[in-house]
Amino acid sequence: MVQRSVVTGVGGYLPDRIVTNDELAKVVDTSDVWITERTGIRQRHRAADDQPTSDLAVAAARRALESAGRTTDDVDLIVVATTTGDQTFPATATIVQRKLGCPVGPAFDVQAVCSGFVYALSVADGFVARGRSKCALVIGAEEMTRLMDWTDRGTCVLFGDGAGAVVLEAGRGEGTKADRGVLGFALMADGTKQDLLYVDGGVSTNGQIGYLRMQGNQVFRHAVVNISEAILSAAADAGVEVSEVDWFIPHQANLRILEGVARRLGIDEAKVITTVAEHANTSAASIPLALDAAVRDGRIKKGDLLLMEAMGGGLTWGACVVRF
Ligand code: UT7
Repeated sequence: MVQRSVVTGVGGYLPDRIVTNDELAKVVDTSDVWITERTGIRQRHRAADDQPTSDLAVAAARRALESAGRTTDDVDLIVVATTTGDQTFPATATIVQRKLGCPVGPAFDVQAVCSGFVYALSVADGFVARGRSKCALVIGAEEMTRLMDWTDRGTCVLFGDGAGAVVLEAGRGEGTKADRGVLGFALMADGTKQDLLYVDGGVSTNGQIGYLRMQGNQVFRHAVVNISEAILSAAADAGVEVSEVDWFIPHQANLRILEGVARRLGIDEAKVITTVAEHANTSAASIPLALDAAVRDGRIKKGDLLLMEAMGGGLTWGACVVRF
């Protein structure tokens, strides 16, 4: 028998305000046709001025706890993946803990930008699978629109706000790929590529929040190669074939990246969950939001083999295999 960390609940939250491509075309020199054809994005959600990232995280976490049949009292670990936290410190996870009224216990943030959720899941899995946590909240929450330079059409049309969460609970398995729970990971970073995607502000540099800067076509090129590599590594780590995977839940940056990876690895596109049209790129929130959408509409069922993957600033990238 082995200890497994099992996803027992999922939840998502998107702010009410929807911004269409046509609305953005009034702000920068772009068009609905360009954005849709190059990215697949049709709209994005945007947080209200008085709605910090922790509010989005709390809403998603409540829904995840409800779907797991757990209460805030059960939570003994909170990991928030975010690059757009409420304050420089404390960690947004501690703000979420306070707002939810969870008991005292470890709560901290993980910063791996768009790969943040995969990284956070691996960290929480470390706690749960070693018996250090019985019921963990793993949340991806972002307000990427706060980092936009609204004069840069190459980036401001791509991102949105939102949060997604999972409840991870200790479970028993046989130590085989048939077990429910987290089965394998691949996590990678290459800091030499950080100039391709970064924010030009920081506490210990210019003291500003800064704006997101990206060499989009370079990032695109790396994304297809790196994500494909991460998928193969995570599948090998889990001892499964890519062909066995029931659902691929990618980070939602660009529909063409999703299609490129699927083509490269011979993945049936019908198995790829896509929310990029409605959510745009919500960074660390995009995977749990996509997972939540597909669980709620009944596509993903208990026992399905899932593969989540992402790439983002750092560059960081990674993938994770989970039997739901
Ligand atoms: O989540 C983190 C990871 N991020 C990503 O994975 C994003 C990866 N990159 C991408 O998704 C794509 O590279 C973009 C969507 C950002 C850009 O698409 P692209 O096909 O790589 O376009 P490009 O950057 O090569 O630009 C092509 C043209 C340029 O015009 P010229 O120089 O050919 O005249 C751009 O100025 O498209 C122009 N352009 C736009 N035109 C209308 C760039 N942004 C826009 C825009 N509207 N919003």
